[in-house]
Amino acid sequence: MHVFPITLFFPLSLLCSISIVVQAQQTYIGLATTSCHQTGNSNSMRGYTCNGANPNCQAYITFRTQPFHNSVTTMSSLLGSDPSQLAEANSVSQEATFEANKMVIVPVNCSCSGNQYYQFNTSYVVQRGDSYFLIANNTFEGLSTCQALQDQNGIPEGDLFPGTKIKVPLRCACPSKNQTEKGVKYLLSYLVASSDIVFLISERFGVSTETILEANTLSSQQPPNIYPFTTLLVPLQDKPSSNQTFESSPPPPPPSSSNNGSSNKKWMYVVVGVVGCVALILLVLCAIIFRKHFGNKKKDDSVIVSENFVAIEKPQGKMLEEEEGSENLSEIISSIAQSFKVYSFKELKNATNNFSPDSCIQGSVFRGVINGDLAAIKKIDGDVSKEIELLTKVNHSNVIRLSGVSFDEGYWYLVYEYAANGNLGEWIYSNTKNGKFLSWTQRLQISLDVATGLDYLHSFTSPPQIHKDLKCENIVMDSDFRGKIANFGLARSMEGESEQYLMTRHIVGTRGYMAPEYLENGFVSTKLDVYAFGVLVLEILTGKEVADFYAEGNVDLLDFLSVVLSEESEYERLREFMDHSLQGNYPMELAIFVARMISTCIKKDPASRPEMREIVSTLSKALDSSLIWELS
Ligand SMILES: *[C@@H]1O[C@H](CO)[C@@H](O)[C@H](O)[C@H]1NC(C)=O
Ligand SMILES: *[C@@H]1O[C@H](CO)[C@@H](O)[C@H](O)[C@H]1NC(C)=O
Ligand SMILES: *[C@@H]1O[C@H](CO)[C@@H](O)[C@H](O)[C@H]1NC(C)=O
Ligand SMILES: *[C@@H]1O[C@H](CO)[C@@H](O)[C@H](O)[C@H]1NC(C)=O
Ligand SMILES: *[C@@H]1O[C@H](CO)[C@@H](O)[C@H](O)[C@H]1NC(C)=O
Repeated sequence: MHVFPITLFFPLSLLCSISIVVQAQQTYIGLATTSCHQTGNSNSMRGYTCNGANPNCQAYITFRTQPFHNSVTTMSSLLGSDPSQLAEANSVSQEATFEANKMVIVPVNCSCSGNQYYQFNTSYVVQRGDSYFLIANNTFEGLSTCQALQDQNGIPEGDLFPGTKIKVPLRCACPSKNQTEKGVKYLLSYLVASSDIVFLISERFGVSTETILEANTLSSQQPPNIYPFTTLLVPLQDKPSSNQTFESSPPPPPPSSSNNGSSNKKWMYVVVGVVGCVALILLVLCAIIFRKHFGNKKKDDSVIVSENFVAIEKPQGKMLEEEEGSENLSEIISSIAQSFKVYSFKELKNATNNFSPDSCIQGSVFRGVINGDLAAIKKIDGDVSKEIELLTKVNHSNVIRLSGVSFDEGYWYLVYEYAANGNLGEWIYSNTKNGKFLSWTQRLQISLDVATGLDYLHSFTSPPQIHKDLKCENIVMDSDFRGKIANFGLARSMEGESEQYLMTRHIVGTRGYMAPEYLENGFVSTKLDVYAFGVLVLEILTGKEVADFYAEGNVDLLDFLSVVLSEESEYERLREFMDHSLQGNYPMELAIFVARMISTCIKKDPASRPEMREIVSTLSKALDSSLIWELS
């Protein structure tokens, strides 16, 4: 009686296990490609296993243009695909040439070779200096592997002489029975780029993250690590389209004119009505500049590191950098009269209830009501010409707007647009403000706002402007929690566009935010702001002041981040490192993505830090993903 079911059970279980093998999805290749000495096919190093519903199929691969492989003709010849099909898949003509580093879709006929691996064959003539790894990774960008090349050519590495023609199996695959049943028609071998995460790839091709993870046997329990120059299979129900190959581009900069109609009218009014006041200011400016040039022109070569907000609020004459010139005078004067309202001190006293403690926002910044609108009024003891000069040139929603100035008894008063939610430091360092805290998406939005403002200052003003003192306290937020860069007291312009770097002997800034090349050699470039931006986002993510990282004995932020991002710890450390007030309410994959971006910003070598433009593009992708995540 008992024997029957058991004997039946055996063949059944065997069948079961076979069918699982047959239906199994492919394994993601990971970093196996870089260890060429490994053989066999673990992690589908030699190719994706022939386990699909069909032995041949139409498949797609992606490829990025290279200097010599950038046209339909040259790419189809390298990849052995049909030029007319390649042109059609990318909606271009057969004569077309693509822009640099453009993602191109390549249709291929994928088939099983010897019942082992799915592949598409092309060939390649070995060049001087080639190795299997260079051919697989650098020329074919990871569409083939050194293991597959070695396996299928049987030529030892040492015998790869220039001129030898070798077979190149490209990595493709056909959908499994499971996938076919779910409507998948094609598999795309997608070449991972350095800033990719699975979530963004799934958004790009309009498929769910889960289907991609499943297709590559990646765990959905923890964020997968994917690497550039490896292929990730994307299951598609329709043919891929050329409009899935575009990179999301940074938003266009707003027009940089400083005036709109109504402020023009105000300007007329000001000129007619406050001529006396302007004359006074001219006199005062003359006096200031005169004194600076012919008075106590003391050179101070010592390193000045101001550690707190207050010191930067009140820059002393000697902290200013040396290249101040009297030719600025006429410029400043005409700028002030053209761009800003000049208030009488009485107007400001009325606006702030005689600068009462009640209207004090922080330090020497007061809240005032001018013509029914709230404004922030900053009292400054010292030279403001730089800040005024800079703010006359910029007009961007992510840079604080200066609306007017006043001068009284040796103090300048600058009138700014009002930032209802105060400065970012108040929210980040204390984790909560009045019991509220910033959500993950708000934090990303603010980071993107700051990046956009910096990109504007670096790339769309002439000459480029460097803020030089970016930090949480210098970012303010309006009522919608949109970030604005404020406090341009240390800003500096890159005169002479040919120059990449300027040098200074006066080191001013905030400890922890200053880039190593600036601290050590006084090099000034836009990359200073990129470094400080990395530190800023680090603080935004962790809710900790950068000084605390150093206090905890981390001498090197970059080393610290690489430990946090290491796979071995299974991201336990990253979770630990994120701001606890977020209570784990963020997509881990995006946290990794942003943390990786930070580590590029704080690289030692300024040249290897990204431009703000690239950061804007990276962060806008992350924000888009985050908004979708928030909805789901
Ligand atoms: C195949 O699909 C079924 C149901 O959709 C699922 O339960 C099973 O795990 C899948 N098998 C593989 C190997 O993915
Ligand atoms: C793929 O197969 C189709 C039809 O069998 C053929 O027309 C096409 O030229 C093939 N493509 C390549 C690159 O061999
Ligand atoms: C591709 O090459 C392999 C050997 O390297 C061969 O077994 C297979 O048949 C070839 N495929 C096609 C479609 O020619
Ligand atoms: C693979 O090739 C790319 C493109 O040329 C290169 O940037 C990258 O460093 C290579 N990877 C390795 C591990 O050498
Ligand atoms: C390109 O994308 C748009 C939507 O973004 C879609 O309507 C259109 O059909 C796509 N074009 C092709 C050729 O698939």
